[in-house]
Amino acid sequence: MTTEGQNNPPEVSVQELKTGMLITAYTRFEEKYAPLDEETCAWVKHNFSGASVRGQRNGVPFLFMAANLQPGDHILEVLHMPRSLSHICVVNNGLIKELKARGFLRFRVQVPAAASPEKSAARTAAVAKASHLLETMKQSIRLCENATTAVKSLMDSDSETAPNFQEVKQYVDQMSDDEMIQAVSAIISLKENDHVYAHCVDVGVIFQQVYFAIMDKRGDQSAFKNHQEAMLAAFLHDIGKARISKETITSTKAFKRDGPEMQEIRKHPQIGAKLLAEAGMPDVMVNMAHFHHVKRDESMNSSYPEGVKQSEILFETRLLALVDVYQALISGRSYKKSWTPPAVMRYLDAMAGVEFDLDLWDAFQAVMGYYPVGSLVKLSDHSLAFVISVPQKDILRPQVIVVVDAEGQRTEENRFIDLKEDLSLSIQKDMDSFDVFKSDALHVFTSLNVV
Ligand SMILES: [Fe+2]
Ligand SMILES: [Fe+2]
Repeated sequence: MTTEGQNNPPEVSVQELKTGMLITAYTRFEEKYAPLDEETCAWVKHNFSGASVRGQRNGVPFLFMAANLQPGDHILEVLHMPRSLSHICVVNNGLIKELKARGFLRFRVQVPAAASPEKSAARTAAVAKASHLLETMKQSIRLCENATTAVKSLMDSDSETAPNFQEVKQYVDQMSDDEMIQAVSAIISLKENDHVYAHCVDVGVIFQQVYFAIMDKRGDQSAFKNHQEAMLAAFLHDIGKARISKETITSTKAFKRDGPEMQEIRKHPQIGAKLLAEAGMPDVMVNMAHFHHVKRDESMNSSYPEGVKQSEILFETRLLALVDVYQALISGRSYKKSWTPPAVMRYLDAMAGVEFDLDLWDAFQAVMGYYPVGSLVKLSDHSLAFVISVPQKDILRPQVIVVVDAEGQRTEENRFIDLKEDLSLSIQKDMDSFDVFKSDALHVFTSLNVV
């Protein structure tokens, strides 16, 4: 069933255009478009590439692609705009200014339908949830730093005495509720760190988030007593580094694959497993410390220790190995630039089936999304937005918050957009938040005023 509105989309003048409208056709132009002079012809061919043009050539009507235009043609209408032209179809203040300056006079438009009460209520709830997450993130930043300090003092402790896990356990207790986990996981996407210690905390948080989501989904029994024990296990996966020389583990150099430093680093899994076993920690925790660098394809140079039977490696350890690589790649290391979270997801996607199991990868991606929370993306109208929530189904259309508008300006109010609902916009590419906001990225994100 079609409505009258769909059969006859309203036609408006450039003065009547309003933000949010979608231009489906350009229908009246200033004189220079009929006939086209050489310069205007080249400009239209370039900017309306992929659209159709209705007009006249030597008095004969035509309808063809913009690429076929010639100087002297009379343009009557530009229509059938492809998605790629969203920057000249999705109306915003910058576009209205540009259209006036370029001499475009009238348009056929689609006016967005007024949201149903249910959709309005869902949007209001989503905005409130996003604001709450940002607030929790603000409150969690200090906690992350303190937890990192606790891991550092544990790993720096005297090698003659048995490690004391008490202080780290206290932070695990404070960090392991669901809201805190979501918040810290988003912080991880935006902060830069170059410490082996923050790595442990970040891996702990992401591991717990992904592990319990997988357990819930599969209805499987957890191998841990509770959430805290799972997070602690991941916090302590690199505890063996406590017995490696400080110069080596805090070095900013990239070591040679077979150099003495790398030989020393490669001992940390066995050392860690021994320390945890001696401390009476559960077997699953010992297994995670021992085998978290064993790859699915053991012939990979980065797989160690050698000669381990795959059957010895628990599911929890395999998941930890994946989280370990994810965190190492998104965190800044001084000898390499950090990757954006979506770039890491693409890389890991390529490695799935080689470095780790495919089903593990699918489960990990279902929780983290294609654009993990905290990713900065460029939308099709050229605005920049932060991802605030991972969708259940269409992973390429998350909920986002606009931080820089289509004209390149930071806005005081930050528009919440659910890309599943607003199909006029899409993600064009992911951006490096450190390139755009430098070290201020986390602060910019947590200070958003969501509307
Ligand atoms: Fe490790
Ligand atoms: Fe690690």
